[in-house]
Amino acid sequence: MVVVIIGNNEKGTVAVHDLIQKRWSPRDFSPRGVEREKLTAIFQAAQSTPSSFNEQPWAYIVAEKENPADFERILNALAPRNQEWARHAPVLIVSLAKQNFEVDGRTNHHALYDLGAASAHLTFQATALGLHVHQMGGFSREKIKEEFSVPQGFEPIAVLAVGYFDETKSLPAAIRKRKPVKDFVFESHWGISSQLTGIEDEKEFNFN
Ligand SMILES: Cc1cc2nc3c(=O)[nH]c(=O)nc-3n(C[C@H](O)[C@H](O)[C@H](O)COP(=O)(O)O)c2cc1C
Repeated sequence: MVVVIIGNNEKGTVAVHDLIQKRWSPRDFSPRGVEREKLTAIFQAAQSTPSSFNEQPWAYIVAEKENPADFERILNALAPRNQEWARHAPVLIVSLAKQNFEVDGRTNHHALYDLGAASAHLTFQATALGLHVHQMGGFSREKIKEEFSVPQGFEPIAVLAVGYFDETKSLPAAIRKRKPVKDFVFESHWGISSQLTGIEDEKEFNFN
């Protein structure tokens, strides 16, 4: 896959890092299992994430397909449209956020932010190891809470399908669209695009 994302402005160009360019969310997973040391590495990447007050308000429940009972418990919690393809992934992971600070029970307003950052670390480590991650918001939080006896104060936020892309399948034909950087980076005043946002109007990139 060749995807080129170049940051450019009147001063010159700098390519966005290869790892970021390579990441995408497939629905076609190979039946090949994921090496356990690679799974350990992706959770160690999550562990290294910065967080508000170093609270580390994230938790993950992992199920490998070799453990069909646990795998099915996560799979069954997914929305039917996600089950269709996620059943082929070799690993499913639930991400959860701890909503209150350990020390005094105050609401942690950055818990979701920190969990998202941890899952991004996990995802880029996975990408570096040749794996793919497809995150899902379409699942039943209640089913996960019930099935895994999730303690009060922890909220399931996403399910991550992890595995290798099925190379026998073709890459998606659809162009991946993104908002132009000028639409979300401002300076001086809300809505005034930063000078740092480059000169392009649109960002569209394809898989090949
Ligand atoms: C929090 C979150 C929830 C998502 N929920 C779903 C989902 O329920 N089903 C699905 O097929 N994809 C889901 N996605 C994947 C997005 O659709 C995908 O990341 C987006 O279209 C960009 O594509 P890319 O990841 O290949 O760059 C989700 C992604 C995130 C980050």
